[in-house]
Amino acid sequence: MFVSGVDIAAAVSRLRGGGLVAFPTETVYGLGADALSAAAVARVFAVKGRPSGNPLIVHVADAAGAGAVVREWTEEAEKVAAAFWPGPVSIVLAKHERVPGVVTGGGPNVAVRCPDHPVALALLRAFGGPLVGPSANLSGRVSPTRAEHVRESFDERDVMVLDGGDCRAGVESTVISLVGQPRILRLGVVGAAALERVLGKHVEVAAGSDGRGGVMESPGMLASHYAPLARLVVCGAEEVAARVGGAAGVSIVTHMDDIDVEGARVVRLPADAAGYARGLYAALREADVPGTGLILLVRPAVEGAEEERAIWMAVMDRLGRASA
Ligand code: TXA
Ligand code: MG
Repeated sequence: MFVSGVDIAAAVSRLRGGGLVAFPTETVYGLGADALSAAAVARVFAVKGRPSGNPLIVHVADAAGAGAVVREWTEEAEKVAAAFWPGPVSIVLAKHERVPGVVTGGGPNVAVRCPDHPVALALLRAFGGPLVGPSANLSGRVSPTRAEHVRESFDERDVMVLDGGDCRAGVESTVISLVGQPRILRLGVVGAAALERVLGKHVEVAAGSDGRGGVMESPGMLASHYAPLARLVVCGAEEVAARVGGAAGVSIVTHMDDIDVEGARVVRLPADAAGYARGLYAALREADVPGTGLILLVRPAVEGAEEERAIWMAVMDRLGRASA
């Protein structure tokens, strides 16, 4: 069976054998494995070099699939899923005992989401069960938004890659915990205001859950995540020239047309929020070519209507971590 030119049957047989298949989603590429197989999930941690305490998001084809991996599919979860699935919102609930502890980093809760991409959905339906799907990058590095990004990081013998073209959103899903009061654990394209409207109550943003403020609810929110190899500095447009200052191996990532500094490689991004988010990770990779010591990224402003602001906030969150 083929969907958008992708061999779903071959991928399913790889997954059934406990293997790994990278698949496109609307946010970034995910590294898929059978979520109910502890051995397959352990392989995901191994190839990514991911710390075992950092839980994986379980991907499902629909709300019924989510119901099978949580202890109780709550009314609030149903509201969020009805409003945003398939789409970039991961819901954290108490896990069902059938989900192996390795998936949740040993914790009691599981994050679950239904991705909005025809290839991901076809894969989930054909596989007929839940798949873990961390971003398909080496731990701590920039998430992949193209099949070639995934191929650069993993050996083909370890990871089969389904090419679904460029990811549409470009930043990872919003992670919201519905265990107790609703709390956003990771900012994403869907912002707090939109979730508040759907839930009809206040949604907290756990901005301090990054390992610096005590309890680490979402271990992937460690500072120094999503990082390129070269040092990344986020700065104002007016600082760029002085910071380049004749240094070699500098890349500039900018959404402003008038930035051009002699001797520096310039990678341009669209100025609108959605276009910027979509292109950001590819731009960081392009800026991070061998020989680069410093990436200067011109700070975008968090502005615009609610939807744009949510995207800019997710972008700034990732930039903060990438430059930590
Ligand atoms: O958009 C996305 O979410 C992508 C695509 C592929 O679906 N996946 C992704 O997965 O970004 P990953 O593993 O790179 O990031 C998962 C984030 C981490 O910050 C992790 O700590 C958090 O979600 N997370 C996962 N399970 C959790 C849980 N049970 N409780 C709290 N946080 C959890
Ligand atoms: Mg990740």
